[in-house]
Amino acid sequence: MTSGNQDQGSNLFNKPQNMKRMNDPDGAAFITGLCGDTMEIYLEVGNGTVKNATFFTDGCESSILCGSTAASLANGKSLDDILEISPSDIIKTCGNIPQDHIHCTILAVSTLHKALADYLLKKQYG
Ligand code: FES
Repeated sequence: MTSGNQDQGSNLFNKPQNMKRMNDPDGAAFITGLCGDTMEIYLEVGNGTVKNATFFTDGCESSILCGSTAASLANGKSLDDILEISPSDIIKTCGNIPQDHIHCTILAVSTLHKALADYLLKKQYG
């Protein structure tokens, strides 16, 4: 028997519909983790809210799951709420991140926050 969280995590991995690069995003970032995998996050922002978030990675199954979850958690959130998203939120949402892949959650959230910073800097300095 699986929990609801595990089902959600499984769905995000099996059907990562949000795994795609975005043309002309309002904010974007990529980070190469210490493991060598790269995470990319793209944000479309309107009225102080994330209208759409997508991700792309060349990494492992866990990085796909974590990137997909980070983008899903960002969708519909205010910019302030994006800052509240943590690696713990990804672990709670997925429920099945192996201990030796917890760093994937940090990579995904770090990239999400960097994409938000990119948006804020573009807005401030054009
Ligand atoms: Fe590097 Fe998953 S092993 S992000």
